[in-house]
Amino acid sequence: MSDYKFIAGDKKWWRQAVVYQIYPRSFADLNGDGIGDLAGMIDRVPYLKSLSIDAVWLSPFYPSELADGGYDVADYRNVDPRIGTLQEFDKLIEELHKADIRVFVDIVPNHSSDQHEWFQAALKAGRGSKERDRYIFHDGIGENGDIRPSELVSHFGPTGWTRVTEPDGTPGQWYLHLFAPEQPDFNWDNQEVRDDFIKTLRFWSDRGVDGFRIDVAHALTKDFSDGLPARDTMDIDPKKPDGSDPLFDRDEVHEIYREWRKVFNEYDPPRVAVAEASAPAHRLGAYASEETLGQAFNFDLLHADWNTKRFKHLISNSMKRAAKSGSSNTWVLSNHDVVRHPTRYGLPDKTDLVKWYISEGKSAQLDAKQGIDRARASTMLILALPGSTYLYQGEEIGLFEVADTPREAMQDPQWFRNPGKARSRDGCRIPLPWTATGSSFGFGPGGSHLPMPADFGKYSVEVNEKDANSVLNLYRTAIAMRKALQCAEDIKFIFNWNRSVLHFARPNGWQSFTNFGKSPVKLPKGKVLLSSQPLIGNQVQGETTVWLQA
Ligand code: GLC
Ligand code: CA
Repeated sequence: MSDYKFIAGDKKWWRQAVVYQIYPRSFADLNGDGIGDLAGMIDRVPYLKSLSIDAVWLSPFYPSELADGGYDVADYRNVDPRIGTLQEFDKLIEELHKADIRVFVDIVPNHSSDQHEWFQAALKAGRGSKERDRYIFHDGIGENGDIRPSELVSHFGPTGWTRVTEPDGTPGQWYLHLFAPEQPDFNWDNQEVRDDFIKTLRFWSDRGVDGFRIDVAHALTKDFSDGLPARDTMDIDPKKPDGSDPLFDRDEVHEIYREWRKVFNEYDPPRVAVAEASAPAHRLGAYASEETLGQAFNFDLLHADWNTKRFKHLISNSMKRAAKSGSSNTWVLSNHDVVRHPTRYGLPDKTDLVKWYISEGKSAQLDAKQGIDRARASTMLILALPGSTYLYQGEEIGLFEVADTPREAMQDPQWFRNPGKARSRDGCRIPLPWTATGSSFGFGPGGSHLPMPADFGKYSVEVNEKDANSVLNLYRTAIAMRKALQCAEDIKFIFNWNRSVLHFARPNGWQSFTNFGKSPVKLPKGKVLLSSQPLIGNQVQGETTVWLQA
């Protein structure tokens, strides 16, 4: 392990950070095996630096059989040999820190891979063993136990139980998995499980990791004292939004995070965390408190239509929630699980995205200009808000969702385990195009693990760099400017007669003005700092955000 220089300074850096999510397999492939790698990331540190981001978040790069894009972890304290080595990981951290970029890694505590040594040991050890107690095993129903313990449906369908073969070769117990069968759920009542995750948090913190993104943070503790849940939804039971759902958002989960917080605070600067928690809005704050994880994703914008009132409403709600929990807001437009936002904004309102995907993008007409105009405007809008912004690789070059990936090339279990019912997330996980030409557009010298569309070169970093008005240059300018303009975490809405306008000011006079409508509106007073589209005289074009200094 090398001798790190930690980035000194403000312990509250995470409150208003710009964090760039890297999906490792699709970022940059240096050795040409078609899979993005750590060496590729090291190679692109100057690019990351050019974005003026505060941190990167690496989606899982751990050893994995890739049953769920790496969210099936076989070894929490190692690097997948296809992605690199621990030495390369250390080098990456060192280079990023030198560039003043902090690092989050993904922790996947709800389930491991079925290839994890503990699950393999559980299979070998048999019924009632301490090895099985680390997971959730139950006997089946019926004389031979061949009926699954309950009618639970997993997130990736169709069932949340899979039967194992006992060491003596007979059909045996069943284990619970909220996701794919290759992702057995841990039993968080088991002390060894708890201790092992603490060990993992220390392992990466000791290597210089600054923060953690906690996967499915709401699902760890379960309570089956009223019987095994039998239901066909993976959402929280709407009748139990109070911590009493047997599967999700139970109050006890925060005991785990309070313990983790103590570990984070052993470090200087303290390590930070952000929860991916799907819980009712009024309960999200518990994940984001100073005693627990500190921050939680706000996914409201992933589902919000392009609409002034809607945006204003969810911004106000988020501000209230943050004030209550003591945390800061988080803003997200895209990530590795959702349809890229220029596509969402370019499709007609209320488009059924599953149907659209299944039709290979033919069921609804994409208006690419509208998609990109709104994407540029919304990015500037959220960058002007107090709190942290989480960006997803590729949005900075204006990538759209890819809906016509050849079906046989798809990797996402959500797709092939739910035939005809779900979208594939592969469409937002296509490798990044770096150059205008070449077999994999500069992603690497040897093809790519997911096929790249023939026209991908036009979105490449190379093409973006040559155009002063490109999406990439807007991101670079806006993020750098935001850094310089950063101030107290407050906003005041400014009234406008036009219902298509969302206008607000930060305490230092920095203003953000968004025209959600299609027709131009009059520019307000103030010095123009930046505009997502050129102004026409004193008119702000439709679907445009302008920053001003009062
Ligand atoms: C999270 C991840 C998603 C993954 C799931 C199971 O929601 O973001 O990609 O499939 O957890 O780990
Ligand atoms: Ca590679």
